[in-house]
Amino acid sequence: MPQQVRGVVARAKGQPVSVETIVVPDPGPGEAVVRVQSCGVCHTDLHYREGGINDEFPFLLGHEAAGIVETVGEGVTDVAPGDFVILNWRAVCGKCRACVKGKPWYCFNTHNAAQPMTLADGTPLSPALGIGAFAEKTLVHSGQCTKVDPTASPAAVGLLGCGVMAGIGAAINTGGVGRGDSVAVIGCGGVGDAAIAGARLAGATTIIGVDVDDRKLEWAKGIGATHTVNAKSGDPVAAIQELTGGFGADVVIDAVGRPETWKQAFYARDLAGTVVLVGVPTPELAVELPLIDFFSRGGALKSSWYGDCLPSRDFPYLVDLYQQGRLDLDAFVSETIDLDGVEQAFERMHRGDVLRSVVVL
Ligand SMILES: NC(=O)c1ccc[n+]([C@@H]2O[C@H](COP(=O)([O-])OP(=O)(O)OC[C@H]3O[C@@H](n4cnc5c(N)ncnc54)[C@H](O)[C@@H]3O)[C@@H](O)[C@H]2O)c1
Ligand SMILES: [Zn+2]
Ligand SMILES: [Zn+2]
Repeated sequence: MPQQVRGVVARAKGQPVSVETIVVPDPGPGEAVVRVQSCGVCHTDLHYREGGINDEFPFLLGHEAAGIVETVGEGVTDVAPGDFVILNWRAVCGKCRACVKGKPWYCFNTHNAAQPMTLADGTPLSPALGIGAFAEKTLVHSGQCTKVDPTASPAAVGLLGCGVMAGIGAAINTGGVGRGDSVAVIGCGGVGDAAIAGARLAGATTIIGVDVDDRKLEWAKGIGATHTVNAKSGDPVAAIQELTGGFGADVVIDAVGRPETWKQAFYARDLAGTVVLVGVPTPELAVELPLIDFFSRGGALKSSWYGDCLPSRDFPYLVDLYQQGRLDLDAFVSETIDLDGVEQAFERMHRGDVLRSVVVL
C-alpha cells in the first residue's frame, strides 16, 4: 500500500518551502523504502529552491540522510529491512563507460528509484539529487543505501551522504592531498570544513581556512585549520602565499564556486599545484584567464563531483573513523530541527549562523 507521510516541498522558484503530504509507493524491483532518521540541510537544497539546478518543480528537498530500510522490492539482495544505511546519490551502474574502465566513482548512469513519489493530488515530485529525504520516509534505489555501523549517531553520519563526503573527498580523492602537503580551503561552510577535516586525515601539515566570516574561521580552527584568513581584510592569495613560504599551497580547494574564489584558488597554489572546485557554480558564471598563466603554472585544475567518492568504499571507513574519535562529525551538527524548521534553517545558513542544521525525525 502506498503510504502518506510528511515531506518538505519546494513548489516554485524562490518561494518558501512547505511541509506537505507526500505519497511514497511500495518499493518496486530494485527499490527500497527508507524510514528517515536524520537529514542535513545542504546549500544544494537552497540552490534547488532558487531554481539554480533545474526547473523541475515541485522538488522534494533533502539529501544528506541516514535511516532504516523499511521494505525492499523484488530482487534486492544488498540491503534488507532493518539495516541502518546512509543514503547516497551515486548508486553505480557497473556498466557505463566510466564503470567498465574501472572508475565507478565517475559513473555516468547512476541509479535512482524508477517510480515517482507524488503530492497527494498525484503530481510527481522531483527528489533532490534523486533522494528527497526531508520526509518521514523516502523511496530510493537499493544501491543508494549504504550499510554502516548501526551504533553510530544518524545525525552525524548522515552528513556523509553529501556535503561532508564531498569536502573530505575533494581533499583526499580529488585533490590527492598527502602527508606534509600544504592545503588552502576557500569557503569554510560544511563542505569546506569537511575538506579541512579530510586534509588533516591525509596528513597535511599546513591547512589554511579562508572565509569572509570570522565565526566560520573559528569553527574551521576547531576542525583542523592550522591558519585562517579573512578574505575581507586583505588579498587572500597574498596571505596564502605568505603562509606557505612565499610559494602558494600544494592543493587549493574552492568550496564556494564563484569566479573570484576560483581565480583566488588558481593563483594561490604553488607551481604544479592542484586546484579543486567543489563549490557548485550557477549557470551564468564565467571565468576568463590569460592562457599563458595556465600553461606556465602547470599542475591540475579539477572539479570534484561528490568528492569522487564510492559510497560502498568510503562511507563505512569514515563511519569507523568517527566511531573511533578520529573524525569529529559531531562538530558539523550545529543544531537539530524538525521538518517544519527547514525554511528557517535556510535563513540561518544564509546568514552564516550554522555549519549544518540537521532534521532529526
Ligand atoms: N561538488 C559537490 O559534489 C558538492 C556537494 C555538496 C555541496 N556542494 C556545494 O558546495 C558549496 C558549499 O556548500 P556548503 O553547504 O558548505 O555551503 P555554506 O553556505 O555552508 O558555506 C559557504 C561558505 O563560503 C563562505 N564564502 C562565501 N563567499 C566567500 C568568499 N568570497 N570568500 C571566502 N568565503 C566565502 C561563506 O561565508 C560560507 O562559510 C555549495 O556551492 C554547495 O552547493 C558541492
Ligand atoms: Zn556506471
Ligand atoms: Zn548536498
